[in-house]
Amino acid sequence: MLRYLARNGSAGHRLARRGFLATVHSSYSTTSETAKKPKTFHDTADASEESHTGQFIEKVSKPYTVTTYARPNLVLTHGKGSYIYDLENRKYIDFTAGIAVTCLGHSNEGVTEILQDQSEKLIHCSNLYYNLPAGELASKLIHKTKEHNGLHDASKVFLCNSGTEANEAALKFARKYGKSKGGDSKVEFITFSNSFHGRSMGALSVTPNPKYQAPFAPLIPGVHVAEPNNIESVKELISSEKTCGVIIEPIQGEGGVNLVDENFLVGLRKLCNEHDALLIYDEIQCGLGRSGKLWAHSHLPHEAHPDIVTMAKALGNGFPIGATMVTEKVENVLSVGDHGTTYGGNPLGARIGSYVVDEITKEPFLQKVNEKSEKFVTKFNQIADAHPEKILEVKGKGLLLGLQFADGVDINKIVEKCRENGLLIITAGMNTIRFVPALNIPDEAIDDGLAILEHCIEQ
Ligand SMILES: Cc1ncc(COP(=O)(O)O)c(C=O)c1O
Repeated sequence: MLRYLARNGSAGHRLARRGFLATVHSSYSTTSETAKKPKTFHDTADASEESHTGQFIEKVSKPYTVTTYARPNLVLTHGKGSYIYDLENRKYIDFTAGIAVTCLGHSNEGVTEILQDQSEKLIHCSNLYYNLPAGELASKLIHKTKEHNGLHDASKVFLCNSGTEANEAALKFARKYGKSKGGDSKVEFITFSNSFHGRSMGALSVTPNPKYQAPFAPLIPGVHVAEPNNIESVKELISSEKTCGVIIEPIQGEGGVNLVDENFLVGLRKLCNEHDALLIYDEIQCGLGRSGKLWAHSHLPHEAHPDIVTMAKALGNGFPIGATMVTEKVENVLSVGDHGTTYGGNPLGARIGSYVVDEITKEPFLQKVNEKSEKFVTKFNQIADAHPEKILEVKGKGLLLGLQFADGVDINKIVEKCRENGLLIITAGMNTIRFVPALNIPDEAIDDGLAILEHCIEQ
């Protein structure tokens, strides 16, 4: 096949590509002999340049894909539950869940059934009309949120397609609210160091990471950066005349799996009330069961509840969907035409969203998340006790967990070693390795994955 590619050169490029992809496909077809016997716990480096993987990346993917991601020589082809397979038919335990997305695991049967059934009925119809699944999802989100000690005065939902879009809606709603209360000067935001809210111009403006922001400056003006868990830093920045919104992740994900104190969030809510600013909780990573409760803010008393909650990731188990949930106070300033999206609330995504919310809130799903969390944490503590010079802290909650490594430890090397041994993990800020597996990860996958991790940290 490689010879085929070389022989055809650019003239036969299209055909060659088709031929290549057909070969690639058959190599992971579940009916093929090799697919029945995946190679597990390999201890082999990433695929070579000469392999199918290397050739696919160099000849088909890289030449035509913009250069915005750094990726290893790894092409993933299919997954089941907490296991995922590559083009070389190597099997990996997946502690990443597509960055906290596939909460019910890969190829979840319920999701697959809905995809098939709904795709035969109606995938899309635009927001010019109502559709059944979108209405059902909105109503389910409100009712389940209240049942699970979430946003106690939740009122309405805006459906969209990603986390960034959910935050973009939240920022626009806060602007509209601010202007309705304080005119054109009440348009500023407060965000927090080490937070991550997305990459669109609005969401990026409240993501104070110079690496992400600098190439695209100037961003939206009037964004101030406070310190999480430091209420004085907020007091210095908040103003009744200027602040329309305060956005925070109740548990920071990308920034290093950092918990935010309950007392601080109670204080933040109080400050927002005093200054009539909207409080936005970005639960895109930490929400929907990941913290061990439906929402990270379900752990908090009502007096720390926000005005807006944003969600995405787990909501679609991999199907792109996001949502912005608001209270009556926010809803009251919104009018027809204020915001919109072509795909948001499409019947297919919305039906999957409903299914995911049902599964997460079914007893004893969340209790099991907490049991699995304990299993991780117990082992993490053992590893940390054995390597105090390398691991400074075990962090996080539920199945959003992190190991904080000392500055001198090269965590990218650990990630690479784990991958070579059949375990996928990811990093986060502050030299942290982040663990965000499927929420229903089987105990066996936890044990096997942690054994690989321990081995790779020891090396
Ligand atoms: C807390 C948080 N907010 C927003 C986003 C952006 O979401 P998306 O990548 O779906 O646009 C992310 C993504 O990692 C996130 O973790």
